[in-house]
Amino acid sequence: MKKVITYGTYDLLHQGHVNLLTRAKALGDYLIVGVTNDNFDRERGKLNVKDNVLDRVEAVKRTGLADKVIIEDYVGQKIDDIQKYDIDIFTVGSDWQGHFDYLKEFCDVVYLPRTEGVSSTQLRQKQDENVKIGVVGCGRIANRFPKEANFVSQVTVEGFYDVQQDQARQLADACGYGTVYTSFLELVDAVDAVYIATPHLLHYEQAKTALTRHKHVLCETPLVLQGAQARELYALAEANQVVLMEANKTAHCPAFNHLMTMIKSGLIGEVVDVEASESKVWGNPNLRELDPQQAGGSFYEMGSYPLLPIIRLCGCEFKQFHFYSRMQNEVDVYTKGVLQYDKAVCSFKLGLGVKTEGNLVVSGTKGYAYVPAPWWKTDYFELRYEDQNQNKKFFYKWDGDGLRYEVQEFITCIVNHRLSSAHLRRRESIVMADMMENFAQRKNFIEI
Ligand code: CTP
Repeated sequence: MKKVITYGTYDLLHQGHVNLLTRAKALGDYLIVGVTNDNFDRERGKLNVKDNVLDRVEAVKRTGLADKVIIEDYVGQKIDDIQKYDIDIFTVGSDWQGHFDYLKEFCDVVYLPRTEGVSSTQLRQKQDENVKIGVVGCGRIANRFPKEANFVSQVTVEGFYDVQQDQARQLADACGYGTVYTSFLELVDAVDAVYIATPHLLHYEQAKTALTRHKHVLCETPLVLQGAQARELYALAEANQVVLMEANKTAHCPAFNHLMTMIKSGLIGEVVDVEASESKVWGNPNLRELDPQQAGGSFYEMGSYPLLPIIRLCGCEFKQFHFYSRMQNEVDVYTKGVLQYDKAVCSFKLGLGVKTEGNLVVSGTKGYAYVPAPWWKTDYFELRYEDQNQNKKFFYKWDGDGLRYEVQEFITCIVNHRLSSAHLRRRESIVMADMMENFAQRKNFIEI
């Protein structure tokens, strides 16, 4: 019996897939089809697959052409499968010509003609509503946005606005597309959504204006520096039925979310302590990040990152908090924060003028999770136990600048008319703003 194997995503199953499977089946007597699982697709940068793996497997089965359907989970699995199932022929469409020649060591490799004029990508684009987004504030952070947005489907960067017109022009030139707007309102009126990457103190007014005009808002973190402002903005988004999302890139990172769900599933027992740190010592005193007039300082700048795992794991209801800061030119160049919960104590260290290890450690009653620096771009973590034989290491990929994950979630929320993301709940974002306000008011604040 001649055994044939082929692989694919098989999203929105179309005639091209059916033709390929028919041709593959004709090459032998028994056809195995490997369907990529959702995580594997995401890891390969396919963030936009529509059907989940169960639906895609069902669709392949319904063609009646596959004798067996398996799931493709990891890079390198093809070799394992070929040996495990004693495969004679590996086949795939001609769009992959040459790509799988390394499998010739294990079986015959056949590239079949691809059906012209149809693909899942095309079908997704046809189905999809396209969200036009405008970039507000074209400085260092925003520079990464258009490139990252390119990895997400259903979004077009329509234009740019910056008070410094040349900044907007430079970004548009670098991208090679997008209109440069001379007024913020003009940009807002021309798009479905805005990405706000201006200095912190401008966020509130700009987000409010956009939301009032029924535009979705993705706003750089920290969203605002006062709890009441955050509450007002989320209420405004709700009233206008648009999405408001704080652009906390770690919150949408797949590896970080996997860690959070594993901890919440009890893998290290009850969480008793979360310690998270981050430091960036640029050595340039003239940066916006160190300017008291522009709400500079370590806590404003980076505070929402360590607060994320703390709040996600221990909740919004802490009993007490304290800040310990070293001040220089009216900004905190270092802040250590402690949050006390009923049954846990959490802390963070943030430095713009003090260097420290930027890791995350979550201690539980059965074990602990360790994420090395830079934990806020999680691509690796370990679960560690007393019995070291039980230790587990988890490897992932942090793609590009990592903004694509938040853009993807933002667009998914818009398209699915979901006003809140499970990655960063509105109440969690509000607590972060409350903490920014507590810090501004120097509540429970000790200078060191
Ligand atoms: N295929 C084909 N003809 C097409 C589309 C796909 O022969 N018009 C083949 C591919 O070469 C592959 C298999 O079908 O062997 C599964 O491909 P998949 O990546 O799922 O399909 P695409 O439609 O190409 O998906 P995408 O647009 O997401 O890349």
